Amino acid sequence: MSSAGNNRPIPDELVEEIKAKNDIVAVVEQYVRLDKRSGSNYFGLCPFHNEDTPSFSVAPNKQIFYCFGCHKGGNVIQFVRELEKCTWPQALKILADRASIKLPESDDEAYREKLEFNSRISTLYLEAARYYYRQLTGPAGQNARAYLKNRAISDSTAKKFGLGFAPDEWDGLVKHFAQLNITDPVLLDKSGLCKRGNKGGYYDIFRNRLMFPIFDAMGKIVAFGGRNLDQALPKYMNSPETPIYTKGRHLYGLNIAKSSNEKRLILVEGYMDTIAMHQAGVDYAVAALGTAMTEAQANLLRKYTENVIVCFDADAAGQTAALKSLDILTSRGLKVLVLQMPDGKDPDEFIKKHGAERFRALVDQALPVIDFKIEVARRTSTHQDQFNILSFQDLACTILAQEDNAIVRELYAGKIGTMIHTSAESVMREIDRRRTVQPTNKTDTLHQQLSDRLNHTDLDAQTNSQTANDLAIREEIYFLSLLADQPSLLALLKDQPGIDDFSPGAMQQVAGRVFKLLSEQKAFDTSILMNCAEALMVNERMLSDLFATASLKLEGNFSGQEPANTATELLREMRLNHLRRQLREAQALAEDLSQPEKAALARQRLLDLNLHIKQLRQR
Ligand code: UTP
Ligand code: MN
Repeated sequence: MSSAGNNRPIPDELVEEIKAKNDIVAVVEQYVRLDKRSGSNYFGLCPFHNEDTPSFSVAPNKQIFYCFGCHKGGNVIQFVRELEKCTWPQALKILADRASIKLPESDDEAYREKLEFNSRISTLYLEAARYYYRQLTGPAGQNARAYLKNRAISDSTAKKFGLGFAPDEWDGLVKHFAQLNITDPVLLDKSGLCKRGNKGGYYDIFRNRLMFPIFDAMGKIVAFGGRNLDQALPKYMNSPETPIYTKGRHLYGLNIAKSSNEKRLILVEGYMDTIAMHQAGVDYAVAALGTAMTEAQANLLRKYTENVIVCFDADAAGQTAALKSLDILTSRGLKVLVLQMPDGKDPDEFIKKHGAERFRALVDQALPVIDFKIEVARRTSTHQDQFNILSFQDLACTILAQEDNAIVRELYAGKIGTMIHTSAESVMREIDRRRTVQPTNKTDTLHQQLSDRLNHTDLDAQTNSQTANDLAIREEIYFLSLLADQPSLLALLKDQPGIDDFSPGAMQQVAGRVFKLLSEQKAFDTSILMNCAEALMVNERMLSDLFATASLKLEGNFSGQEPANTATELLREMRLNHLRRQLREAQALAEDLSQPEKAALARQRLLDLNLHIKQLRQR
């Protein structure tokens, strides 16, 4: 696994030694009671979500774990990291200690430098927050204070959230930094709070904006959001990713909400919503900040609670993203309720108009996810006051078909039956019919074959709108899992796989790491594949989880020549996907009328690609 770019100064060999001396079954058994049950695998109650029947499995021969309920999976290091809620190096340390292996002291120069740089960035952010805060409370902050007053944010609330003001000056912050001897250009460039001008001097990036420091869960400032006070665009400007801040990994307000007495968190969209809710006594609000909910944020929530209320603005724009985030949350084993804001308001506006009391009452009326989805189906099946029963029953049955609990399905079948004046039985029949047909892509025979053979259901069930892209990624995941399971397959392949056979992004990254290991003749197996996937995400899911699912599905499904055939078939399909990606690109170019020469070339390329695809298909 590459240690490049990660703050993982520990050499690969040592990581492997630590894994070798920490059998995953023994480690898991320190936390979970395991029973040997199906085949070679152990089962137990999942430590990562609440359950009554065991769906947490450990595969000793692959040295991985996987939960069929919440879909967490990984190797022994990832297990400890999840369970102890610690970082990768900390998990390694725990396991090294357990096996009495001595880790190199942090005399690793590069590592120390990195830590030091991070701490300097932290200091810089803290100093920036101090500066912004002083500006807000000082003479320059008059307008900003008036703005807050107008938005009914009290002084003590502003203070609690560390709000500040970036004055309309060129270099106020830069000068403040200079006074503190914060002048290192590398640091200033990385900070994203100031920028080098043409003449070499630095100037402030945030000007005339209300500043919202973003804290990590521990209360350290890692980023800023700045809201305009005039018409400047964008409305909110956010500081960039830095070594201490990755987008989609934090939740605004969590540093405060985590100490709430309520055993739940409520998820809202914006800075102001979070703040207004805390001020209204709903002190367990957090915000995902503009991005759609990510897997990492869902995991973060899960560390603090099992119960989440998702609060969406009533505007249609957020709806699809909202539905998607519900699926991410439930797949992490969270119990989710949905609070739909009435009359097109966001929580902040609602509280301002109707008061804290009525808002808190609203929270108590949040709906279970399934009711919410059915409600959306009902709403979207109503046009100009005409209720389209056919469209509604279609949507509603699809929604219920995705529900795994048979009792819940039956219960809601009754409700739907009442809504459309038909019997619960016929609704149930319709739901059952949908549960038996494969939800995706019936035309793709390979996929069909594979899914039969690998008997996989959950990867499918989670997304109903499977794009070509998702399918490609899944094939790549199976390919790599198969390879990790049986590295000797590689030699049997007529064509050798290359990076290009994988989807751009995370899949190419992981493939790159794998091929590097293989070319260096290093050891390769399922658990090492998990390491290669460390910190990579696809479709907002941890890649290591996806590998774990795929790996367990492979279990015992192959004998004799078959795996080699499957690998060949998968690779051929991946090549086709690669050509299809190029085809899509060429298509776009060919249609671009503003660049006639390029378009002509692209048309030629289209012909070539089509021919190529055809040949590959016939093989
Ligand atoms: P909204 O546009 O709903 O803003 O964006 P808001 O939270 O209601 O803000 P106010 O009430 O007008 O002040 C929701 C969230 O999306 C992110 C911010 O985190 C914002 O709180 N966002 C929005 C941006 O990052 N950039 C933008 O330009 C707009
Ligand atoms: Mn708002």
